[in-house]
Amino acid sequence: MFAYETFPVLETPRLLLREITFGDARHLLAIRGDYRVTRWNTVPLLRNMDDAIDLIDRTQLAYADHRRIDWGVVIKDNLAAGMVARIGFNYWLRDEQRASFGYDVAVAFWRRGIATEAARAVAGFGFAQMGLDRIEADAYRENVASQRVLQKVGFRKVGVDQDWEYGTLRQMFLYTLTYHDWMKRTL
Ligand SMILES: CC(C)(COP(=O)(O)OP(=O)(O)OC[C@H]1O[C@@H](n2cnc3c(N)ncnc32)[C@H](O)[C@@H]1OP(=O)(O)O)[C@@H](O)C(=O)NCCC(=O)NCCS
Repeated sequence: MFAYETFPVLETPRLLLREITFGDARHLLAIRGDYRVTRWNTVPLLRNMDDAIDLIDRTQLAYADHRRIDWGVVIKDNLAAGMVARIGFNYWLRDEQRASFGYDVAVAFWRRGIATEAARAVAGFGFAQMGLDRIEADAYRENVASQRVLQKVGFRKVGVDQDWEYGTLRQMFLYTLTYHDWMKRTL
């Protein structure tokens, strides 16, 4: 069972998922400094390198405190591109054997299957190494791309959360992938 001793590097046919370090700051800024990436997210837009470095600092602290696991995603045959995506468990409720994940891909690398491939790897890690019974994720109604990623990985839509934001009713779709469903797909 994963216990935060060494960082869990994951490998897929095309991708390597590894720890995010300060050397990734420029690439993190390219990902999270783009409004097209952050608009469906609850995270703030990064404005400059200081913001990116601060986020990496907080990411590493959260890992050290066993609160989160965040991976930086690189393409094995295009390492020069640097970190092109990030994916991570936002929380891990160990007693309830559930965790939630989220991901962002640099706009220049959208629609190449990167999010789907990374999400499958992280889900597999969650079930096999973290002993999860279910993985949760959410996406704004308008975020068709993220919902498509979740559906391709095997998540089911289980509910809708809604709230008023600046005079507009925003709907957040809640998705779940159970260990049972995951095993059925991977058999
Ligand atoms: C959501 C996101 C991570 C998808 O990344 P990606 O690497 O482009 O996704 P994939 O290439 O794996 O695509 C998965 C599916 O979504 C579809 N898709 C991707 N972008 C799409 C878009 N803008 N509109 C409609 N469908 C889209 C793909 O066609 C594919 O489906 P298909 O195989 O049936 O054709 C990326 O768009 C992103 O970073 N968005 C901003 C951040 C975000 O929304 N994060 C999630 C927060 S909940």
